[in-house]
Amino acid sequence: MLPLSLLLLLQTQLIHAQQPLSVDKLYNFTTNSLPNPPVFSLPAAHVNLSVSVALCASIASPPRFFLSNDTAITNPGLGDVEDGRAFEINLQNGFGVWSGIVNDGGFLAVSGSVEVPIELGISQNGPFHDILDGLPLLGDTTSNQALVFSSPLSYSNTTHIVDPTYPKYILPPANISLPDGAPALPINVSIFIAPTAASELVSLPRTGCAIRAATIEDSHVLNAGETADNGLWLRDTGGWRWQWLLNGLTPLTNYTTYVIENGTKVSGPINFVTKSASFSCPIVHSLPYCPTVNYAVPISAPPLPDLAYTSANLPETVTNPMLETLANFTISLSTHPCGRDYYSPLVTCADCQRAYRAWLCSIWFTRCGEPSPSQVNDASNPSSALQAQPTSVPPRSPGLQPFPSDYMALLPCLETCTAADRACPYFLGFSCPLPRFTAQMSYGVGFVDSGEEGYQGDGVTGVTQDRWGNVWCNGL
Ligand SMILES: *[C@@H]1O[C@H](CO)[C@@H](O)[C@H](O)[C@H]1NC(C)=O
Ligand SMILES: *[C@@H]1O[C@H](CO)[C@@H](O)[C@H](O)[C@H]1NC(C)=O
Ligand SMILES: *[C@@H]1O[C@H](CO)[C@@H](O)[C@H](O)[C@H]1NC(C)=O
Ligand SMILES: *[C@@H]1O[C@H](CO)[C@@H](O)[C@H](O)[C@H]1NC(C)=O
Ligand SMILES: *[C@@H]1O[C@H](CO)[C@@H](O)[C@H](O)[C@H]1NC(C)=O
Ligand SMILES: *[C@@H]1O[C@H](CO)[C@@H](O)[C@H](O)[C@H]1NC(C)=O
Ligand SMILES: *[C@@H]1O[C@H](CO)[C@@H](O)[C@H](O)[C@H]1NC(C)=O
Ligand SMILES: *[C@@H]1O[C@H](CO)[C@@H](O)[C@H](O)[C@H]1NC(C)=O
Ligand SMILES: *[C@@H]1O[C@H](CO)[C@@H](O)[C@H](O)[C@H]1NC(C)=O
Repeated sequence: MLPLSLLLLLQTQLIHAQQPLSVDKLYNFTTNSLPNPPVFSLPAAHVNLSVSVALCASIASPPRFFLSNDTAITNPGLGDVEDGRAFEINLQNGFGVWSGIVNDGGFLAVSGSVEVPIELGISQNGPFHDILDGLPLLGDTTSNQALVFSSPLSYSNTTHIVDPTYPKYILPPANISLPDGAPALPINVSIFIAPTAASELVSLPRTGCAIRAATIEDSHVLNAGETADNGLWLRDTGGWRWQWLLNGLTPLTNYTTYVIENGTKVSGPINFVTKSASFSCPIVHSLPYCPTVNYAVPISAPPLPDLAYTSANLPETVTNPMLETLANFTISLSTHPCGRDYYSPLVTCADCQRAYRAWLCSIWFTRCGEPSPSQVNDASNPSSALQAQPTSVPPRSPGLQPFPSDYMALLPCLETCTAADRACPYFLGFSCPLPRFTAQMSYGVGFVDSGEEGYQGDGVTGVTQDRWGNVWCNGL
């Protein structure tokens, strides 16, 4: 039996032989340049630690990762896991996480003989590596552009979407502006896109390092982080999203898109499909008074070098009458003693104005569309709420000039109308067509609320668009 002091010394030296990992730091290795033995020591921490590992390339037989939070088990392996004295970090979608207490320190061992780049991270605030629940959101596409949003990133500085209160119940003006300060984001976001058919992006581990590496190795994968019009946009009540207008895409092509936060958290993938080469409606976006207008509109192209319309270059002849209509509506609404008397137990004047604004914007800014290739080729795929607009018929929108070529309108979802109907006081006389009768002439019916009033559910999707690039009607 060795004296205790010698035992302690031996143990200390053993610990020193393993490469230590620190908290809140990200490490990258290739498995053939690991320390010998391929073991890392974990810091002692009396908090919940998250140890995460990620593969940075596709590999048929990935390495295995074993973790012990018992200082006596200095090189954990499968046997220790089977004995219940250590843990295996199982990989799914190319990454794995262990969360728990490491009171006295511990060890992380890597086992495997095939070379592959990996990333390791330890954090006290939830794992570095993750697949986020929130998906990127498609605004719309043209023949060679796509407008894409991240999932919501921040809820700071959204006071202007908070309801006013009595006695100072002042509704937002028609010409609402975004708050002066978009929040300062503690997150890095970047977007990665590639044609679905041509790229290896689809088959990669869903990890930030693998997707980043693909932009270097696979010329089809584009990191569009530097594209114009990037910035935060308060599109809806969900909070601030990052917005990208991607240019230079190929017509009629299905693209796969990922958004990566802080380099390690993956959102997506989603698909979108660009329009045919003859599609000529430009994208309109970044209108503070119509925050959900982020789509192609039948309006002649903006003067070059602009590639899309925003509130900075949209003609006043389009916006002014719309703002006047909304201002007049707000005056009528304000004849109700908002905030003092309630016309409904569920909704307020602010809800009414918001719903009316969303409805008016969707009517004023007609949306252009096209059947997606999957709808053309697959008869079982329900069609979108598209309506042909030959040049012989007057413009759908009271605010737009006749469009010089034929196009297809993607009708607003009926729910944009029924939402305003439900949210506004009866005396305003707002009403919507009935699903059974005339609604289909002006709205996409049955895509969001199916089955109501005995309606035939066409899309049965329950949504206005899906993550595969199908868009059923124009809605939130
Ligand atoms: C690994 O980390 C080093 C610096 O720590 C960095 O320069 C390098 O780009 C990283 N490699 C990968 C593949 O992320
Ligand atoms: C090791 O982790 C397990 C599971 O999280 C926990 O019950 C145990 O207390 C930890 N042991 C030490 C020494 O931290
Ligand atoms: C430890 O952190 C993980 C990841 O954030 C979490 O899922 C888990 O519930 C936490 N456990 C405890 C005991 O707080
Ligand atoms: C709306 O507000 C913006 C920014 O405050 C201003 O530049 C623009 O002229 C306003 N438009 C109208 C029609 O009042
Ligand atoms: C909110 O906006 C102001 C500028 O108006 C900015 O200084 C502040 O940092 C923003 N708040 C947050 C939480 O980012
Ligand atoms: C990104 O990193 C910053 C700073 O390290 C942190 O505050 C933020 O929560 C991280 N965001 C995500 C989504 O991990
Ligand atoms: C975001 O990236 C920049 C440049 O790569 C870096 O300096 C910054 O620390 C990163 N911020 C976060 C929160 O990760
Ligand atoms: C708004 O109301 C004013 C005053 O009642 C009226 O003159 C104007 O035509 C209205 N504008 C619109 C677009 O309804
Ligand atoms: C895009 O490609 C994906 C993967 O092949 C497919 O599931 C999806 O239906 C396609 N989207 C459209 C709109 O065709």
